Amino acid sequence: MARLKVGVPISGRGSNMAALAEACADPGFPADIVLVLSNEPGAAGLTRAQAFGIPTAVVDHRDFPDRAAFDAALTARLEAAGADFVCLAGFMRLLTAGFVERWRDRLLNIHPSLLPAFRGLDTHERALAAGVRLHGCTVHFVRPELDDGPIVMQAAVPVLPDDTAGSLAARVLAQEHRIYPAALRLVAEGAARVEGERVVYRRDQSGGGALVAPPLP
Ligand code: GAR
Repeated sequence: MARLKVGVPISGRGSNMAALAEACADPGFPADIVLVLSNEPGAAGLTRAQAFGIPTAVVDHRDFPDRAAFDAALTARLEAAGADFVCLAGFMRLLTAGFVERWRDRLLNIHPSLLPAFRGLDTHERALAAGVRLHGCTVHFVRPELDDGPIVMQAAVPVLPDDTAGSLAARVLAQEHRIYPAALRLVAEGAARVEGERVVYRRDQSGGGALVAPPLP
């Protein structure tokens, strides 16, 4: 099967991009990253991508009159690199409906909460404030509404009594790095696809386990 050619928009440190790049380094993985592009010229993830030998580009949103023009430039760079799929990885710009439609069902995002809880920013602070006992992360297909769209994969972590936003974020991030490559693999292999705004799977994905927090006595 032909490997997916994935473009990865980032805005910052790029640790999820690096997790995807590590997965793509395996010849058995069904995808390659053809371009990492950042809206922030100083994003640390750009250097990280270059260390993997991945081509990089900067498309600075400040150089465009509006979101539509910026998004059109993003698509142009992705197309020029031959991308047929996009994985947002800490890309902190709202996308226009036009961009989302152009890449419909070929566009994944990772978000640091168990969606649909805690869309938007400061998810770890808000999870702590809400007192949830389980928090986590989600890989989902992108729709025009913020942090919305069919869910491919989620990982839950327990919230511990002494957690700070930082300690919780670190445990969630470790899970992000596991589920993003795993979700991309499922989608790239055709083992997970959108049907009626839900993701359906070719194989049973039930796993059979449950994470309970605090643990049962
Ligand atoms: C990650 O935690 C990612 O889930 C989050 O930004 C961080 C980027 O880190 N994304 C969002 O909040 C998008 N709504 P990274 O640059 O090290 O991958």
